[in-house]
Amino acid sequence: MTADPRLIIPLDLPTVDEARAMVERLGDSVSFYKIGLELLATGGMGLAGELKAQGKQVFLDWKLHDIGATVERSARVLAGAGCDLLTVHAEPQVMRSAVLARGASDLKILAVTVLTSLTDADLAEMGYAFGARDLVERRIRQAIDCGVDGVVSSPHEAALAREIAGPDFLVVTPGVRSDWSAKNDQARAATPADALRAGASHLVCGRPITAATDPREAALKVIAEMAGV
Ligand code: C5P
Repeated sequence: MTADPRLIIPLDLPTVDEARAMVERLGDSVSFYKIGLELLATGGMGLAGELKAQGKQVFLDWKLHDIGATVERSARVLAGAGCDLLTVHAEPQVMRSAVLARGASDLKILAVTVLTSLTDADLAEMGYAFGARDLVERRIRQAIDCGVDGVVSSPHEAALAREIAGPDFLVVTPGVRSDWSAKNDQARAATPADALRAGASHLVCGRPITAATDPREAALKVIAEMAGV
């Protein structure tokens, strides 16, 4: 069995050395990696270049959120790094700037609609007139209008995103847990097959694989569950 390009492994490890060792252990079972803020702050962009040189796909989870001019300049630098996916917050000014900056590069822009840690009460406290589900829907529509390539969404919102955006939009879902794996802190998890059936184009699945005694074997188990869906 070979890697499934729809499976993205987050390298949520404290150091680049540990992330590199995990990539080595996973070998050819994984072709797509996500690098998040912790690693980006400690040499993650260098690791991104190494992974690209090995022929892997790289998702830079920067979650950019700043004035348009700064987002545009930052996204232009990141587009030049030759990576595949970049996250930005789903505000129209931010999304438009990132789309402008990636230009004709291969970089795809993903919008983070509403962080899944935010409840309706949190949003009200922040001054939003919408609850989480309504705000997610509004921001999916704005993401499409801004020319963004896809969204990050919980498996439970994947169907909504797919229904609104149609077949070509990227819908990347974290919160993926097989029946055999611990849920950790993912309160609203879905199995790999259910997330794909709901409309996900890509799955982000971390600790069930990276914290397993044999990460490669765990990755192959998840890939087997994705097969045919
Ligand atoms: O280990 P686990 O599978 O829970 O990792 C999920 C990854 O997806 C982590 O990198 C986490 O930060 C990220 N993520 C998430 N939920 C979101 C957005 C991102 O779990 N709503």
